[in-house]
Parts: sequence; C-alpha cells; structure tokens
Amino acid sequence: MLSIQNVYFDFANQPVFSDLNLEMKQGDFAFIIGKSGAGKTTLLQFIYFNLKPHSGNIILQDFNSATIKSKDIPLIRRKIGVVFQDFKLLKNRNVYDNLAFVLEVTNTTRKEIKRKVNNALSEVGLSHKRLNMPDELSGGEKQRVAIARALLNDPILILADEPTGNLDPETSNEILDILLKINKSGTAVLVATHNYDIVRKVNTRIFKIEDGKVVKGILKTNTN
Ligand SMILES: Nc1ncnc2c1ncn2[C@@H]1O[C@H](COP(=O)(O)OP(=O)(O)O)[C@@H](O)[C@H]1O
Ligand SMILES: [Mg+2]
Repeated sequence: MLSIQNVYFDFANQPVFSDLNLEMKQGDFAFIIGKSGAGKTTLLQFIYFNLKPHSGNIILQDFNSATIKSKDIPLIRRKIGVVFQDFKLLKNRNVYDNLAFVLEVTNTTRKEIKRKVNNALSEVGLSHKRLNMPDELSGGEKQRVAIARALLNDPILILADEPTGNLDPETSNEILDILLKINKSGTAVLVATHNYDIVRKVNTRIFKIEDGKVVKGILKTNTN
C-alpha cells in the first residue's frame, strides 16, 4: 500500500534523508521513532504529498510522488486521516461542526454528513460531547475528536504525528488504544512519536530514523 524508496531530501542543503526506505501493507500498525529533528514529521509530510523528495519515490496505492499531478493530490489526501500533537480543532465550532466542516467542502448531503459524523464520534466514545466547544474538552477528548475527524472519509491510512505529545501517560494509553482499535477494523496506522512508553506497549513494527535512514529495530535494544 505504501512504499518509500531510496528517498533523498534536504532543507537548504542540510540533508534530512540520505537513503530512506520503508514499506507498509494494508492494515499494518507501525511506529516511527527517532530523536527530535530526526525527520519523523518530514517523513509524514512526504506520505501526505505535502513535501516532495528530491530523489527517490513515495508510492501510495496508485500514486507516485515523482509523477502525481497536483489535481490528484486532494484525491489521495482524502484517503489519509491525519492527527497532530496540538489537535488543530476549530475553536469557534462545536465538536459536531468541527467534523461536519470536513465533509461540507465535499459533495456530501446533510443526511450523510450527520450519519458519518455521528458514527465517527461514536467510534471514539464521544457522542455525548458533540455539542460541546473544544475549550470545554480535556486534552484527551480533543485528541479523540481529532481522531474522529481523521476517520470521516474512511481512510486507508491514519498518520499520527506525536499524538500523545500533549497528554499525560494515562490519557496517552487511551489514545493508543483507540488507534489500535481503528487498526483492528482494517485501517493502517502510522504513529510518529518519541513516547517510548506507548511504543513499548505494542508488539508491532518500529521504524527508527537515524542518520537519514530507517533502521529497523526492536525498541528494547534500541531506545535513545
Ligand atoms: N521547513 C523547514 N525548513 C528548514 N528545515 C526544516 C524544516 N522543517 C524541518 N526542518 C529540519 O529538518 C529536520 C527534520 O525535522 P522534523 O521532520 O521536524 O523532525 P522530527 O519530527 O523527527 O522532530 C530537522 O533538522 C529540522 O530542523
Ligand atoms: Mg516532528
């Protein structure tokens, strides 16, 4: 489903990736780890077709970074759900409207919007908060709204960039559990994090970025 091949990338001649390679199959759950500045966020930006490698290829389903047309980028993005450390909710809209907003820009009927938003909120256990404003939610609840928002277009892949970065350990575990549950229903999930506590909890693939490459490793022998 996702293949990253021989990627070279630099910011102003400062190399971030020298030879990056990574493969994910449909339904995989994987972590990207690596110290701050290693390139985790940059890697997620490639997969979202927000940044383009200077050489090499990012291939997601039928789309290749080397040949994708700008008009096709919104199509592939609709298949990807994104979750950030700082939630990125719209402050002046309630929970329901934060989600509905995503679908209003597509050609979705009001009835269909209602069904999808309610399903997504129920998926993350937040149906009862649908009329609350973001400021009335805890950090964990905000992140659950953000995850619900990421689910709206039935993505094939969820990209989560430090999803527990602003959360306490207990809440971080709840967020991890929700991501695992989503993965069980068939959606691939890729989590970039330096929260090794959550990484240790899951027996799954870990891509460690070091010196511009992915070093596959088992966390217990490979923490930093
Ligand atoms: N927009 C940018 N302009 C220049 N350098 C950048 C930019 N974004 C990231 N970098 C640099 O690229 C490297 C990788 O950054 P990033 O992908 O954010 O790492 P991580 O998410 O692992 O902390 C860092 O050295 C960072 O300073
Ligand atoms: Mg980052």
